[in-house]
Amino acid sequence: MDPRLNPYAPGAGTPPPELAGRDELVTRGAVALDRIRGRRAARSLILYGLRGVGKTVLLNRIRLDSEARGLITVPIEAPEGRSLPAILTPTLRSALFRLSRREAAKAGLGKALRALGSFARALKLKYDDIEVGLDLDYERGLADSGELETDITELLATIGAAAAERNTAVALFIDELQYVPEEQLAALISALHSSNQNQSPVTMMAAGLPQVVGRAGRAKSYAERLFEFVPVDRLEPEAARAALCIPAEKEGVKFANSAIEEILRQTLGYPYFLQEWGKHSWDAAERSPITRKDAQHATVQALNDLDVSFFRVRFDRLTPAEKRYLRAMAQLGAGPHRSGDIADQLGQKVTAAAPVRNSLIAKGMIYSPAHGDTAFTVPLFDGFMKRTIP
Ligand SMILES: Nc1ncnc2c1ncn2[C@@H]1O[C@H](COP(=O)(O)OP(=O)(O)OP(=O)(O)O)[C@@H](O)[C@H]1O
Ligand SMILES: [Mg+2]
Repeated sequence: MDPRLNPYAPGAGTPPPELAGRDELVTRGAVALDRIRGRRAARSLILYGLRGVGKTVLLNRIRLDSEARGLITVPIEAPEGRSLPAILTPTLRSALFRLSRREAAKAGLGKALRALGSFARALKLKYDDIEVGLDLDYERGLADSGELETDITELLATIGAAAAERNTAVALFIDELQYVPEEQLAALISALHSSNQNQSPVTMMAAGLPQVVGRAGRAKSYAERLFEFVPVDRLEPEAARAALCIPAEKEGVKFANSAIEEILRQTLGYPYFLQEWGKHSWDAAERSPITRKDAQHATVQALNDLDVSFFRVRFDRLTPAEKRYLRAMAQLGAGPHRSGDIADQLGQKVTAAAPVRNSLIAKGMIYSPAHGDTAFTVPLFDGFMKRTIP
């Protein structure tokens, strides 16, 4: 069928043509944020789940909805290897400028901007990747101790006060939260805790890989009272069907039931894979309805695409020892697996395999769903490893 009309949108953070099965989470996010704006007790959300499960698009949906309701949102993607102050400074700066455009300047906003200037200057020594904010005015004694936890707490307090003056809230939306170094995450959580206790309208909503739950908990034991950790999982069959069929229906195209079954069986309901299979089925089909044969054709094409992109980019970041570890895991199946069994498969002692396991966790390739267990963060990665290293 006409590839120009193909509605599917495989990609990282690409909004899907139909955001299926997430209504309840979208509402939960909105309720929490509106309560915080209204200075009522609420726990914000930390969304966690595997690669390609739809965390980023969900986080963005919640963010854009709240922005439309008048909240000030601060989108942040935590890159590997940058410091939190360095990524916070420019994004907070632009959020404060947006706040200033709303109405005539009030005292709180100037103070928040000066706090940000002090924050950037004071922490520049410790976090030399800070590039932005050094040009801002600053104020002696305000968020400038040079100690991250103290300074970020003061900074968020001034930002909360500026937001309160305007009857709004400022919400940081941090994606890939697992990449924020643990002691910096601890400082941030502590600052948010203080905002929460003072009913200051500043909060964070975040998303990350499953390891984010343990990291946040280790960083601050009260993280669970501050945030609701919400698993984002593959779609239930009904939602998966909707994700696949509704976009086609909007173009007047149907799927044969046997085609849907094939696609659900192959994708296991993982949103990213549904987009890939939808796209390739559409391209393979001559006409509506899309048949089982078209879907099988799509399986070949989609796996091919995944192997050279989605899986490949992750594979290319691995050291030879890490590849061997993942290959041993794949040999045991989809997982999760006992770490001892993986070590056995490698012919190593658990302690000898531990450093490689740790580096794979740090890279976000695997996580520990329960003590002593190891699982892939990328769905269907076991199959890829077997295809790539037969
Ligand atoms: N609820 C949904 N219904 C249909 N498609 C979805 C849904 N959620 C996400 N998708 C699609 O799945 C793909 C992956 O989404 P997204 O990038 O948000 O995943 P992610 O969990 O952030 O992955 P990663 O961990 O790699 O960042 C996108 O192509 C998106 O359009
Ligand atoms: Mg993402």
